[in-house]
This record gives sequence, structure tokens and C-alpha cells, in this order.
Amino acid sequence: MRFDVITIFPNIFSGFVSESLLGKAQRKSAKGGFASGGKKLITIKTHYLRDWTTDRHQTVDGKPYGGGPGLVMKVEPIFKAVTALKKRQEISDKRQGKKSKSKVILLSPRGKKFNQAMAKKFSKLDQLIFICGRYEGVDERIAEHVADEVVSIGDYVLNGGEVGAMVIMEAVSRLIPGFMHDADSVSKDDHAQYTKPEVFEPKKGKKWRVPKVLLSGNHAEIERWRKKHK
Ligand code: 6GU
Repeated sequence: MRFDVITIFPNIFSGFVSESLLGKAQRKSAKGGFASGGKKLITIKTHYLRDWTTDRHQTVDGKPYGGGPGLVMKVEPIFKAVTALKKRQEISDKRQGKKSKSKVILLSPRGKKFNQAMAKKFSKLDQLIFICGRYEGVDERIAEHVADEVVSIGDYVLNGGEVGAMVIMEAVSRLIPGFMHDADSVSKDDHAQYTKPEVFEPKKGKKWRVPKVLLSGNHAEIERWRKKHK
């Protein structure tokens, strides 16, 4: 899986990627192990939108037609960036004699709400191109003609699509075979869990205990308890 992220804040991504499993997955090969050659499990590339401007001030936004406050991101630099990134994938496909499945996603609070089913669908693709909007919005022609899908990560408004792109990359990556070191943990965290100590004393006279059934060794009972505490 290759993630291409188009943004005016590429630095937002570096710590998130390098400090998480995403960084590790970028060093892992698809065949397992960390061999330097071969196909990587995932590749994350950020692209500075201003690189696709042609004017001296590298303008990526403008005043909205019809008036109103704020600025709108221009269609041209985004169109050029997406076209270049699709083309790059096509050229690499051609060399390898294959055809990539690719999708362009515009991050926007007005989009379709992201969920686990979408993450699963996306995880079967070869390339996801994210367009991170900023300011008060993006010229609607991006949604109309450039993006395959407009996606939101929830019912609230953020300053830009960068956090949304990170959310989707993480949710999608952990569904790619080999990303998690323990295949079982892909679906983990679906019930309440405890670890040592058996009894924690936050202050004198107060005790927080682990449910007895989990210490019982009775696997049928434990399963029943877990189903109840999803
Ligand atoms: Cl993806 N972008 C912005 N700017 N706001 C959002 C969002 C995305 N998802 C929810 N709110």
C-alpha cells in the first residue's frame, strides 16, 4: 500500500509516522522480515502542495466567488499534484507489468463518515491519495472531478484534513496482512481487559480489583464474561 498525502503542512506527519507502527511497517518487507530490498508493506509519502504552484508567491488559495469570509483552496495546484501522483504510480506499475487499484480521497467535514467497513475496503487497494483541505474549504471542483470519495472522520469541524488522513492511514494499515506482529490483535480491544496487579490500592482503604472470573482459569466462564463486556 502506498499513501500519498497532499498537504501544505507535511511536517505534521513526521512524528506520527516515525514514532508509530506505521514507521516500522515502512521498513518491513511484504514477504516478512526487514530485508532492505523488495516491496515494502506500506509507503507513506507527503507532498508539499506549494510545489505544484507556478506563481512567485506559491498561492494555494483565493477569495470565494459570491463573497464571504476566509479563503478557498484553488483547484489547479491540487489537480496537478493528483495527476502527477497517479502518473508516478502508473509508470511504476508499467515497469512491474501490473495495474494498481488507486483511490483519491478528499478529507472534508462534509464527506461520508469514515468507519471500519471503509477501512477494510481501502486496505485492499494499492494506492490512496489524500487531499488535505485547509482554510475554509476547497474549490468544489475537486470533489466534483478529482476525488473519488469525500471522507469525514466525524461530526465536528477541524482546521484541516491532516488529522483525518492520519486516522485513515492508521486504521487501514493495521488491516494489511503482516502489519501487526500478532494477527489476533487486529481485532483486539473488543472487550474489557486487565493486567497486574490483581488488587490496586489508589489510596488507603480503597481497592480496585480484577474481576474474579478472569483469575479462575475457567475458559468457558471467561469467554462468557468477555462477551458480556464488549
Ligand atoms: Cl477529514 N477535515 C476537516 N477539516 N474537518 C473534519 C474532518 C476532516 N472530519 C471531521 N471534521
